[in-house]
Amino acid sequence: MASSKGKPVNTPPADAKEVYDQAGKLFEENKFDEAIALYTQAIEKYPDYSSAYFNRALSYALQSEYEKATNDAMKVMELEPNAPDAPYVMGVISEYQQDMDGAKEWYEKSLKNNPEYAQAKDRLKMLKEKMKGAQPGLKAKGEEVTQTVVEEGQIKKVAWFTSDITFKDIVGMEKQKQLIHDNIILAITKPQLLQAYGKKLGLGVIFYGPPGNGKTLLVRAIAGETKAKFIVMHINEIVDMYAGNTEKNLHAVFEQARKNAPCIVFADEIDALGTKREGEQQGNMRMAVNQFLQELDGVEKNPEGIFIIGATNQPWDMDPALKRPGRFGESVYMPAPKYKDRREAFRYNTRKMPLSKFVSFGRLARATWGFSMADIFSICDKAALKVAAEEDRTGKKRPIGMKDLMAMVKEGGSSLDEWYAMVKKEVISKTETTIVEGKKQETIKEGRLTPEEKQRYKPMIKDIKKNLNPVNIFVKKVMRFWAVYLF
Ligand SMILES: Nc1ncnc2c1ncn2[C@@H]1O[C@H](COP(=O)(O)OP(=O)(O)OP(=O)(O)O)[C@@H](O)[C@H]1O
Ligand SMILES: [Mg+2]
Repeated sequence: MASSKGKPVNTPPADAKEVYDQAGKLFEENKFDEAIALYTQAIEKYPDYSSAYFNRALSYALQSEYEKATNDAMKVMELEPNAPDAPYVMGVISEYQQDMDGAKEWYEKSLKNNPEYAQAKDRLKMLKEKMKGAQPGLKAKGEEVTQTVVEEGQIKKVAWFTSDITFKDIVGMEKQKQLIHDNIILAITKPQLLQAYGKKLGLGVIFYGPPGNGKTLLVRAIAGETKAKFIVMHINEIVDMYAGNTEKNLHAVFEQARKNAPCIVFADEIDALGTKREGEQQGNMRMAVNQFLQELDGVEKNPEGIFIIGATNQPWDMDPALKRPGRFGESVYMPAPKYKDRREAFRYNTRKMPLSKFVSFGRLARATWGFSMADIFSICDKAALKVAAEEDRTGKKRPIGMKDLMAMVKEGGSSLDEWYAMVKKEVISKTETTIVEGKKQETIKEGRLTPEEKQRYKPMIKDIKKNLNPVNIFVKKVMRFWAVYLF
């Protein structure tokens, strides 16, 4: 809490303090809405109540209300510019919004204000481990290339990445791991073995599937397993507004790859490359796609040790030319986790946390039917944050219990429910309502996938349809409710 970190703070009047303490109890009981209401009352009674702002910020962060959380954290910084806790909570908020660099800066700022601030220390350590997955720093031709160097729209140096993440860091996905092991890992680590069977050593693969289920993580794990270097192709770095630069940049990337084979060229969010999205710089995108195809053809003719991996959660947005059969040899579907994998994900994500012995991973898995791996990570992380904040306030240590985890299951919900509804119109059909001469007209627009694509992405389409089926939605809700409230 802000006041406990060494800086004298004006004492709040007794009535404000009383409300504030009540709010703290509600927070402990995971009643965040009610806690927020009382923190607000405390602030009304005493507008400089930085601890109340701080705890309201935490409550909002746990509810994924990041804008409100940020406002409160900013207010704390205004009231107590030298306290370590507001920058710390800003770090947490940044992390939850996937801004890892931002989070690192905030934790460092927090530790600058108080080098002994344990919570910021712990999180910074964890964050650094997480970021290690894509740490630059491999020597290329005796030179340390740490960052892609772009001058006037032209890439001068391509950054290399190495990764410490391995298959051990990926929960479930056994089928996918096997396929990758046979097709990519072996080709990089034991090329002779495959050559003896006349297999080509080089491949294009697309990983596709709903967000937050390990596509990006898996590519990092391939790099970690093989110790191969990899290049991350950032589409926004590649595509330049000046004609010519885009092609040169793409060529530079593949040139580097050829010189350094075996290596992996990773085009994450490959749907950003292409003309299918509206409002992009159409001409340049067209050229980028053409050049990319040319480079792909080059690799296809002489594939020795170059692996091109694309990842996307919206394959229907990919440029048609990139999707043509044969461009990317395999499409690997990465679905949301099933019961057993969700159970393992809870076990995995809490392995370093002090847990009560009453935590049931099976029940958590049942309560999170239809959640993504990223959702489960976030549930565990928020439960830990909540208990740490509580300890900070009360000074009492206690293990993380089932109640804390379940509270976060209820707060967070599944990010995929919303996602399935959002992509429905892309995949199946959407009804558009227009007003013509004062009358409503409804037209049904077919989804954006060609019959060929429907075949290719069948597992994903089947999954999306299943998750939109009203009976299924109902069963899922009942199961979750049962696990959360009754079991
Ligand atoms: N199979 C998994 N095992 C362990 N953790 C996972 C797994 N999948 C996802 N996660 C967690 O979720 C986070 C997001 O995963 P990742 O970035 O790989 O998702 P993605 O499939 O690439 O999503 P998007 O389509 O949004 O890019 C990871 O950082 C990790 O914490
Ligand atoms: Mg990704």
